[in-house]
Amino acid sequence: MSSAPVSGKIMSMGATMAPIITFYNESNWSKQNEEPDICDFTFGNPHDKPLDGYISAVQKSLAPQNKDWFAYKQSEPEAQAVIAKTVSDYLNHPFNAEDICITNGAFAGLNVVIKTIVDAGDEIIYISPHWFAYEGMIIGAGGKAVNLSINRETFDLDLEAIQAAISPKTRGIIVNTPNNPTGKIYSRETLTKLADILTAASEKNGRTVYLISDEAYHKIIFDGNDFVSPATIYPNTFLVYTYGKVHLTPGQRIGYIALPPEMENREAIHTSVNLMQAFSGWSYANAVLQHAIGDLVKLSIDIEQLQWRRDFLVDELTRLGYESNHPEGTFYLIVKSPIEDDWAFVEHLSEFKVFVLPGMTFGLPGYFRLSLTANDEMVKRSIPGFAKAIQG
Ligand SMILES: Cc1ncc(COP(=O)(O)O)c(C=O)c1O
Repeated sequence: MSSAPVSGKIMSMGATMAPIITFYNESNWSKQNEEPDICDFTFGNPHDKPLDGYISAVQKSLAPQNKDWFAYKQSEPEAQAVIAKTVSDYLNHPFNAEDICITNGAFAGLNVVIKTIVDAGDEIIYISPHWFAYEGMIIGAGGKAVNLSINRETFDLDLEAIQAAISPKTRGIIVNTPNNPTGKIYSRETLTKLADILTAASEKNGRTVYLISDEAYHKIIFDGNDFVSPATIYPNTFLVYTYGKVHLTPGQRIGYIALPPEMENREAIHTSVNLMQAFSGWSYANAVLQHAIGDLVKLSIDIEQLQWRRDFLVDELTRLGYESNHPEGTFYLIVKSPIEDDWAFVEHLSEFKVFVLPGMTFGLPGYFRLSLTANDEMVKRSIPGFAKAIQG
């Protein structure tokens, strides 16, 4: 297969979503992903047993302790307090409990934030390579999606391109750090320069340009690297988080939007976010997960094990002649496709029962992505397949 077929219906949801939908529905992976002997590096799904302590925490929270245990839940004050303390400690920046809007994951958090700030025709900048849903969310909110690229040499934000793309209609920019798929953590210096650009643009436009900080992977950091949240640098930042990555439980939906205490008009924005959560389909985390959050925040996937997989795969793939990156965080690795058509290479690799995600699905043609959530056994078993595939 040389390129992904695209239907008109999918196109109207956002052109950048089309390739991933086609991959999901029509690729070799879509036909073979249930087979027991495959090495599945496609998506960030669990291939190991759940974390110790996860099931008992959820089970404990199933037992009602009062009549409202399963009542409609918005952001429960106990859960807000737990999350505010955890995120404040982690980022070394104080967040107030009432400024934590608990969502059913970052998917919902991003959607709610975009819908809250966008009026018809407003522009939101997002940067490729990108997570597949940004464009569709912006269009769905009535906005215009403005797509830029990272600096392809350094994988850093291209601040000049961002500055040049800002118009009187710009309402926000989505920044994903650590980045899926590059694994890049944007530095304090880069984020400070970005904050200066956004502050100047807000003054010039006479209305705030928001930063939407997609921090889905902010706890998955390798080599003791520093992580800096844009929310600690630029006050008009919505910090969006999900526990689906750090627990590797993407089917268990809990995350949050945190508003920094320095955000302008914070109380009014909080009210708007809350209303938008309700009216965008009750985008709150369900009761049991909110009750369990005090125990859940103590749990994490094994970062050292992910780091071992990264190092093993980088070494082995390099030895075989592939060019791979060296992610600073997240659980992804990106590798240059040995042939220009990444889709064709990915389908070729699947003949050896190794499944990865083509770069055209995340705005980085010519590359493919591996999720390090494949288990150790798959990681080791995949190497002969990678070896044969590069030989043609
Ligand atoms: C960059 C990024 N943002 C947001 C999400 C959504 O996370 P969740 O499904 O846990 O809400 C993902 C999931 O893959 C992601 O990779």
